[in-house]
Amino acid sequence: MKILSVVGARPQFVKLAPVADECRRRGVEHVIVHTGQHYDPMLSDVFFTDLGIPDPDVHLGVGSGTHGVQTGAILGAMDAVLDEHRPDWVLVYGDTNSTLAGALSAVKLHLPIAHLEAGLRSFNRRMPEEHNRVLTDHAADLLLAPTQVAMDHLAAEGLAQRSVQVGDVMVDVLMLVRERLADTGAVLERLGLSNGGFSVATIHRAENTDDPARLSAIVTALQEVDHPVVLLAHPRLRAKASEHGLDLNGGSLTTRDPLAYPDLVAAVDAARGVITDSGGLQKEAFVLRTPCTTVRTETEWVETVELGWNVLAEPGPAVAAAASRPAPAPTDAAPYGTGTAAAAVLDALTR
Ligand code: UD1
Repeated sequence: MKILSVVGARPQFVKLAPVADECRRRGVEHVIVHTGQHYDPMLSDVFFTDLGIPDPDVHLGVGSGTHGVQTGAILGAMDAVLDEHRPDWVLVYGDTNSTLAGALSAVKLHLPIAHLEAGLRSFNRRMPEEHNRVLTDHAADLLLAPTQVAMDHLAAEGLAQRSVQVGDVMVDVLMLVRERLADTGAVLERLGLSNGGFSVATIHRAENTDDPARLSAIVTALQEVDHPVVLLAHPRLRAKASEHGLDLNGGSLTTRDPLAYPDLVAAVDAARGVITDSGGLQKEAFVLRTPCTTVRTETEWVETVELGWNVLAEPGPAVAAAASRPAPAPTDAAPYGTGTAAAAVLDALTR
């Protein structure tokens, strides 16, 4: 069996790591195509190095652009790649423009497509990620869903026959990295953080960064939290803050560059809270049992909210209030699986 993975953005490298590892373990031929959607070393190369992912076999180098330009550039480059490799499966991950372009190029060439992290829905049709998910799910032949909720969404759209629940590969990699963390104290010292008293924040989604009034309300709210907040600034956030003339530091808020994955895991594990609009970080916080405040009107990861570990908050005093709340009751629920999702993915692809 020959699998060709299409990845391009930070969260996809995290999901790729356990899949690449499982392919290696089973002796399955695995071609990695990096679209180049993310090109900053801290959003890309560092994940390959730290997570032991083999170098990409193909790098398309498309870079940034509007949705149409970026998606189109990947699409235009993929025909030749797929023609050359003729894989048994084209595997696409998550919900970025790289996901949709990978799926679209494969479907046109009649190559079987598997979508990892299928069935997620925010039901917010203004999100680019929602367009990418819905279109990719309907183009794919095999839908690898992380949760029962995702399976239910796929069934509601008539896709039950093509769906398999495999668990969440992000849990696989998170557990492995947490086990290997040698000295969390040293990581925190390097980051200038004291154990337990801070929150980790990330904000990068278009709906939060692109409207100056909304971004300003978010930054003010982060500055008013009653304990130190460390904002790990995605390049999009820095670009938009500078465009809107916003200072990201002040009050309780300090800003620094994004972290390598093991450092992020150490920081979230030690933190008293997470404040984010990232999908992956909501789950990582839950798995590490760090309370999360999500600056969005809805979440795809509803289990984290239902179990009391995640609160949705609109920019303003609600963010500071949610971020200061006490930790919820402990739970041993594992809605995202127990770290065996990559094996289930390979089983499903082999079947
Ligand atoms: C993309 C995904 C989003 C995912 C996120 C993870 C889409 C539609 N969005 O958003 O779902 O959660 O990745 O980070 O695919 N930039 C850099 N260096 C880089 C990459 C981007 O400076 O390496 C800047 C550029 O100004 C660029 C902007 O960030 O225009 C946005 O990047 P883009 O890849 O379009 O989307 P993300 O916001 O990263």
